[in-house]
Amino acid sequence: MSAAQQKQVLKNCHLASMQNALPGIGIIRDGAIVIQERVIKWVGVESELPQQYASWQDLDLGGRWVLPAFIDCHTHLVYGGDRSKEFEQRLQGLSYAQIAAAGGGILSTVKETRKADFEQLFAVSSTRLEQMIALGVGSVEIKSGYGLNTETEIKMLQVARTLAERLRVQVVTSFLGAHAVPPEFASRADCYVDLVIGEMLPEAARLGLVDAVDVFCENIGFSLAQTRRIFEKAADLALPVRLHAEQLSNSHGAGMAAEFGALSCDHLEYLDSAGAKAMADAGTIAVLLPGAFYFLNETRKPPVDLLREHGVPMAVATDCNPGSSPTTNLVLMVNMACTLFGLTVDEALLSVTRHGAAALGLHKTFGQISPGFVADLRVWDFDHPVQLAYSFGQVPDCERV
Ligand code: NIG
Ligand code: FE
Repeated sequence: MSAAQQKQVLKNCHLASMQNALPGIGIIRDGAIVIQERVIKWVGVESELPQQYASWQDLDLGGRWVLPAFIDCHTHLVYGGDRSKEFEQRLQGLSYAQIAAAGGGILSTVKETRKADFEQLFAVSSTRLEQMIALGVGSVEIKSGYGLNTETEIKMLQVARTLAERLRVQVVTSFLGAHAVPPEFASRADCYVDLVIGEMLPEAARLGLVDAVDVFCENIGFSLAQTRRIFEKAADLALPVRLHAEQLSNSHGAGMAAEFGALSCDHLEYLDSAGAKAMADAGTIAVLLPGAFYFLNETRKPPVDLLREHGVPMAVATDCNPGSSPTTNLVLMVNMACTLFGLTVDEALLSVTRHGAAALGLHKTFGQISPGFVADLRVWDFDHPVQLAYSFGQVPDCERV
């Protein structure tokens, strides 16, 4: 970075700052942002810019809007193959659970992901991540979970780390070894959990590849008791947890995850009041995934009113994966969160910035245009941020500054 870029004032712009201290999405019209070495030093109305920054190099943004880069806090974007055949089977009447029970579903992606070598997996994953970046994403969570053995789980997590280096975005990894029971452990789920706890997770953590631990807690996934064992191991390793909870049934996963201080509980269509209260008390973020709801043709919506009532912050993510949400478009999810789940536009925009950051434990550094935060900013071509939620299937242009 040149010396000039280290100190910069962005001028002639409107901000949706997402600051906690301001109402809604923290709009500041005719604003300015002072940046030094990628950290935000000052934010406010341009006419009030402190004198000390007056001589710094400035960049005129021509009256455009600046938002924090988006945060996609739930993705499975590293995977081999696709599941378009299963899409056709579902159109013919088979359910997601029936396909999984017949050995398709997650396990068919496991086969393809095990087969792919590192470079092949990197190539398909970087294409997906580039699509996300083009739509304004700057931080992304990436799960393992299509390896289901030590070698392939590690390969997936190494791909995730390499994506961060080569594409210059922030990647937070989640170890999801307990995504499904692999075929070699069929009918021996507890033995597989032994392997997850005894070898897979500790080895991936030892290599520095794990930022958090996730489990698919569901009647077609892992039981509450099995999830607890994995979370206890995560606690031993001082790793934070998150959970796929109450997606297809109420397994009471959210309440248990909250006991472990989970960063987030995700999906939540079947969340009950006790679960919502536990999440609120633990400061756990609710991650809503309208792409999976839409693509699986679900009818039960996550209890948004309950989450509001208990003051649980809501994040929204793509859930990018080949089976239940084959999309890389987080801006489309903003629209769907409004149309399908009834979020307000402000809630939906906060869900992919400030609250997305909180779901990843990044609430002090990302997701807001505030002093002390990382200057990961995008400049958008629209008249008002509502247009991000309003249009669907196409996204206004954005530029990285
Ligand atoms: O978040 N629910 C489990 N995992 C994914 C689906 C994965 C798949 O079908 O490949 C989800 O929806
Ligand atoms: Fe998921």
